[in-house]
Amino acid sequence: MKVLVIGGGAREHALCRALSLDPDVTALHCAPGNAGIAELATLHAVDALDGAAVADLAAALEADLVVIGPEAPLVAGVSDVLRERGIPAFGPSAQAAQLEGSKAFAKDVMASAGVPTARAYVCTTPEEIDEALDAFGAPYVVKDDGLAAGKGVVVTSDVEAARAHALACERVVIEEFLDGPEVSLFAITDGETVLPLQPAQDFKRAYDADEGPNTGGMGAYSPLPWADPRLVDEVMETVLQPTVDELRRRGTPFSGLLYAGLAITSRGVRVIEFNARFGDPETQVVLARLKTPIAGVLLNAATGRLDTQPPLRWHEDAAVTVVIASHNYPDTPRTGDPIDGLAEVAEQDAPTAYVLHAGTRRDAESGEVVSAGGRVLSVTATGADLATARERVYRAVARITLEGSHHRSDIAEKAASA
Ligand code: AMP
Ligand code: GLY
Repeated sequence: MKVLVIGGGAREHALCRALSLDPDVTALHCAPGNAGIAELATLHAVDALDGAAVADLAAALEADLVVIGPEAPLVAGVSDVLRERGIPAFGPSAQAAQLEGSKAFAKDVMASAGVPTARAYVCTTPEEIDEALDAFGAPYVVKDDGLAAGKGVVVTSDVEAARAHALACERVVIEEFLDGPEVSLFAITDGETVLPLQPAQDFKRAYDADEGPNTGGMGAYSPLPWADPRLVDEVMETVLQPTVDELRRRGTPFSGLLYAGLAITSRGVRVIEFNARFGDPETQVVLARLKTPIAGVLLNAATGRLDTQPPLRWHEDAAVTVVIASHNYPDTPRTGDPIDGLAEVAEQDAPTAYVLHAGTRRDAESGEVVSAGGRVLSVTATGADLATARERVYRAVARITLEGSHHRSDIAEKAASA
């Protein structure tokens, strides 16, 4: 099977790694990719938001499957163009991707499907904003309606800060605060059959002890030893299957990866958000634990044959990933800094610890790998338990130098000692 992956972050590196380990995959391509993915796949330059360009590339490569990593091409309708051209695509249509693209649409789908989520108001005027803030009280949760890469959300007890963020958005969702731990649960679906993966936990704040601003995610681990063993079954029944059924009923079936961001509250599981693609960095730990070769699963989802898919198999091992972010991330990250220590990790820590690249590129003049984004690397390790995986991941992180960079030192700490 010839596979083309669209994207160039650590999530796509994790996908390419899993695909490269699948004996069914005979050729692996990625566009645009990054310096790490270049070691596994042939890289191509393409405007990922241009469906026709992506379809032309897929046709030229005779790709049997195109896997779309990030949300922007999905919302732009790239998978629709691929399907019209008869090319199997893993990733939902533009309409179904509105589950991530519009928080108001997601709330509407959840209301129709009876999926538990925070009570919310969609507001467009200052009067509506004040009414909604008053109705819920502190802490306030204020979300920009559109795509914002996880950064359009403000959670604060300061009513003025909440109002200022709300007024800066064109359309805003103001909702009830949900307490309790967060869980990310992914499901692969063809629009009808739903196949849940293993749950993971992400660390969204920039600094240790959940201090600092929200980011795209600074680290993750799986499994969750503290979670109720019935969690996946419960979320399947109350969230994933009803959502997939509702979108099919509306005539806009969701085929691809449905990401449920959940809060485990004292009153039960509630959806915080949906995403229409694999999460980053959770994918790095979930795929590290997946034993079933992945290409066939993604192709079955893309071609509506997930009912024929045998149950997924998982490693007993735990996995932890730690994101190394550039100077000033998530504000205005500095790029172009050299990265050292990658060879040392490959020599001394593989195969139980390895580096997945996010924002990196190879400098044309020096040939060195340099930073090219906010989140630069996602160092990942596996082990018999979370404590072992943590030890390995932080040993590998310590070998890497990137001037001005920062990472969290408490990823999976509480879960490992529980
Ligand atoms: P979102 O982009 O909707 O996932 O929001 C980003 C982060 O804001 C989430 O991961 C949560 O940590 C926090 N958050 C979002 N909605 C709520 C809520 N209703 N209650 C508490 N925290 C929330
Ligand atoms: N890790 C959060 C996300 O992928 O949106």
